[in-house]
Amino acid sequence: MTTVLDIRDIKKFYGSEVILYDVSLQVKQGEMIAVTGASGTGKTTLLSIIGLLQETSAGHIQILGESVDGLDAAKRAGVRSRYIGFVFQRARLVGSLTALENVLVPSWLFGSGTSYEVRARQVLTELGLGKRLHYLPEQLSVGQMRRVALARALLLNPPLILADEPTNDLDPATAAIVFGHLQAAQQEGAAVILVTHDEEFAAKAQQVVTLKNGKLSAG
Ligand SMILES: Nc1ncnc2c1ncn2[C@@H]1O[C@H](COP(=O)(O)OP(=O)(O)OP(=O)(O)O)[C@@H](O)[C@H]1O
Ligand SMILES: [Mg+2]
Repeated sequence: MTTVLDIRDIKKFYGSEVILYDVSLQVKQGEMIAVTGASGTGKTTLLSIIGLLQETSAGHIQILGESVDGLDAAKRAGVRSRYIGFVFQRARLVGSLTALENVLVPSWLFGSGTSYEVRARQVLTELGLGKRLHYLPEQLSVGQMRRVALARALLLNPPLILADEPTNDLDPATAAIVFGHLQAAQQEGAAVILVTHDEEFAAKAQQVVTLKNGKLSAG
């Protein structure tokens, strides 16, 4: 199986504070990795480094065999848009666009001519938002915004999906639906990195890793 993500010896410091120290991780096509760890251990920092939203202090990152070290901001944005779907811990929706429009943004920017609207409507409906397609983010609950962000991240079938606590604040039934969409993407061949505190979901991943004191370890 193709290695989608390969990170080696990543270090991240904020001032003199060590957040990540020699973190390495490989994720293959069709594999889900669950990342756990206490609050403040650097899980979101790690995802934002993998998602090319933040620079590392040291280390190497390859996505689908290509090094992304030292790329300028425009090239990083290009890699991100082609290869990565990101479900942020805070949903980061565009406030002036409806739920459906937010989901469609990646297709406006990077879509390849197909009509994505049918798929967007379908995924939002499956996620329980069929009646809220035309709501603005301010008219949605936190958990609903997160589901819109999930639908947006999945729209273009990216090979790498980064999901930062996507089932937090959701009731068990909705959480299971959200997890089910990530699992379906994984089973269709995406590499999924799931930050979660939910042991049941983590147990369904192919690998579970834990961040503690800047180090990533198995289990
Ligand atoms: N821009 C920044 N400047 C300084 N410190 C930062 C910055 N961003 C994050 N940190 C620190 O890095 C540490 C890790 O933060 P991060 O958000 O990655 O944790 P987390 O594991 O995702 O926590 P949670 O489970 O609460 O979401 C925290 O102690 C935080 O204060
Ligand atoms: Mg976090």
